[in-house]
Amino acid sequence: MDKLRIEGGTPLNGDIWISGAKNAALPIIASTLLAETPMTISNVPHLQDVTTSMELLAQMGVKLTVDDKMNIHADASSVSCFNAPYELVKTMRASILVLGPLLARFGEATVSLPGGCAIGSRPVNLHINGLRKMGAEINVESGFIQAKAKKLKGTVLNLDLVTVTGTENLMMAATLAEGQTVIENAAREPEVVDLAECLIKMGAKISGAGTSQIIIEGVENLSGCDYKVMPDRIETGTFLVGAAMTGGKVKAKNTRTDLLDAVLIKLKEAGAKITLGEDWIELDMQGKRPIAVDIHTAPYPAFPTDMQAQFTALNAVADGVAIITETIFENRFMHVNEMQRMGANIKLEGNTAIVKGCQNLKAAPVMATDLRASASLVLIALVAEGSTLVDRIYHIDRGYERIEEKMNQLGAKITRERSRR
Ligand code: UD1
Repeated sequence: MDKLRIEGGTPLNGDIWISGAKNAALPIIASTLLAETPMTISNVPHLQDVTTSMELLAQMGVKLTVDDKMNIHADASSVSCFNAPYELVKTMRASILVLGPLLARFGEATVSLPGGCAIGSRPVNLHINGLRKMGAEINVESGFIQAKAKKLKGTVLNLDLVTVTGTENLMMAATLAEGQTVIENAAREPEVVDLAECLIKMGAKISGAGTSQIIIEGVENLSGCDYKVMPDRIETGTFLVGAAMTGGKVKAKNTRTDLLDAVLIKLKEAGAKITLGEDWIELDMQGKRPIAVDIHTAPYPAFPTDMQAQFTALNAVADGVAIITETIFENRFMHVNEMQRMGANIKLEGNTAIVKGCQNLKAAPVMATDLRASASLVLIALVAEGSTLVDRIYHIDRGYERIEEKMNQLGAKITRERSRR
């Protein structure tokens, strides 16, 4: 297993190009299953999760090619297998996103249950209940979701909880259903909007994406289109936090400035000077140590759970005490134990972390436990004294494109130690 070795002590300075958003690319890749003619997706990030999605679709019969610009060409005109096997679903929970499209277009799907993961139990009951309400017959047996439906029927779906992939799965299913589907309490995340825009380009009739009520009028069929994936707001936020923690100055280019309000407010509160351009955000810490900031995660437009670990790292080195409340996932503090190994002063009480910042963190061997937790360990290692070895970085490769190269462009000293297998 590859490891990252990080020498602490250099501030991040410079410009960085932000990649396409993982959480938009994955549902958009799944949506190609709905199209009867070829389509092209651009600004796709080069990530392990994207490779896994492509493997998943390829074994169903979708013809996929990647050109020299990393655009994905997908032709789902002849799909022959409607299964998502355990081997792929267990490595990427977002595989569940094929359920809605397969059922809507082909009337059947067998998808392995994702099971638990490091950050909590993460059930998919809302995906299943919604599809049942649209007329699907679904059995959950021997670890598989087996779904059948001659033709899905539009209805009103009132989601008990805000779920991002749940909203996406049901929205994709509804595009080819008979009549109107209304999703109430829908997720408002920008990635849901990006998927909706792609589906609209494919011929779907969707209104209200980005609000808590999405209305979909089913159509007979969808065709391929060219679609450019939105920039990654979480990658943007991660680099900005890196600059804030190290007293540096970073300009995140090729990003969206309108999607990070909750994060930018907190960075300003931490003492950063933020400047916005048309498609860039610059954070200048002017050499200062950040001030501790309280964080409370909640669905968009509130503070994203996917930025919680990075702000835990920031608070661990900040001036003052911060309270971090995680309301989305039950077990998303796995990074705390690892940070404590480096001397961080963090107390956990249920879904709350009380973080007292300190200035003399020391490098230690640590282990990545999930995607965003691993990013937070890289960030904290940038500030710690000495050389930190982060193990199990396959988690980070699932969601961050060439993180060490990008960080090094900004002055970090990170090397990848390849495992000898
Ligand atoms: C997506 C994102 C992930 C992000 C999360 C929350 C992708 C590929 N992943 O994950 O990066 O951290 O949103 O913003 O877009 N829940 C249920 N039943 C369900 C579905 C969800 O109880 O059927 C619960 C979950 O356990 C969790 C909460 O709802 O507590 C929100 O989860 P959800 O929004 O579904 O997360 P994901 O879509 O898996």
